[in-house]
Amino acid sequence: MKALITGVAGFVGSHLAEHLLSQGIEVTGTLRGHSSLRHIRHLLPDMRLYECELMDQQAVDQMMTEIRPDLIFHLAAQSFVPVSWDSPAETLTNNIVGQIHLLEAVRKLGLASKVLIACSSEEYGQVEEDEVPVKETNPLRPVSPYAVSKIAQNYLGYQYYKTFGQHIVRTRTFNHTGPRRGEQFVSSNFAKQIAEIEKGLKPPVLYVGNLEAKRDFTDVRDVVRGYRMALDYCEAGELYNIASGQCREIREVIQILLRYSTVEITIEEDKTRLRPSDVKVLVGDYTKFYQQTGWTPEIPFEQTMKDLLNYWRNE
Ligand code: GDD
Repeated sequence: MKALITGVAGFVGSHLAEHLLSQGIEVTGTLRGHSSLRHIRHLLPDMRLYECELMDQQAVDQMMTEIRPDLIFHLAAQSFVPVSWDSPAETLTNNIVGQIHLLEAVRKLGLASKVLIACSSEEYGQVEEDEVPVKETNPLRPVSPYAVSKIAQNYLGYQYYKTFGQHIVRTRTFNHTGPRRGEQFVSSNFAKQIAEIEKGLKPPVLYVGNLEAKRDFTDVRDVVRGYRMALDYCEAGELYNIASGQCREIREVIQILLRYSTVEITIEEDKTRLRPSDVKVLVGDYTKFYQQTGWTPEIPFEQTMKDLLNYWRNE
């Protein structure tokens, strides 16, 4: 069994590669020329890296001709919401066109690959309080260019399934975190700041944005386990929420992290961290995914936060 992971050097890609390798699957991962290898260096003896710019159709065609994967996990994307306001065109182009090139290669080569498209709970956007936990059928009210790019990825997946019969499964994953999470994302950013305060590298002030937002966090190690199950058991053409079903105010993330630390800190709002529009509440209903795969999240959020803090302490 051969798997291709796009964006293997990233946070989710590195965890997914680890998981698939542990199951005896042959893994090839794509990355861009400038990507750092620090998350995957320990895996290099066991997996193949393929430098491929997904914006280049010829490069994608050549890679797919060589690899002919049975499973494709399409993770590569511009995934930080605030960057999508600074660079909307780049976010939309990267996220949409890269995927088109991948699906076009599958079509032209007549491959029977099963494809997972990593979509996002951001697609739901402004959810009403009485709509949570949200089901896959909830209306979409996107409030960032990133969210719109994910909606486009989602519907392109649907369209290639309908038009060409490709085996495409779309997962709408809610917030996920854990060791190696990029430092720009909320839980990782707070954990890194706390680790730096502990080391005496920074004064004891934690800079924060909107603490009133509510999110649903799953451990990345549970998420990647779910991604494999999605291609094993889910129906082609269908869309599934992957979530924990638990709602947490961002303020609570700080409280939990601080439980595992001895530092005394003050919290200060940094206005540059506030967004032009922020999704107020996202909590997912993952019943459909559970019924199809038997997946449930296993790692408690407190454990995830402990592991994340330890990750930054050791960096
Ligand atoms: N990044 C960040 N930094 N966010 C902060 C901060 C801060 O200092 N303070 C408060 N927040 C709030 C944000 O305003 C947002 O409401 C929430 O914390 C989560 O922010 P992020 O961690 O940046 O994640 P996101 O919810 O915008 O998007 C993530 O989840 C999506 C859904 O799974 C990303 O991982 C997306 O790629 C993903 O699709």
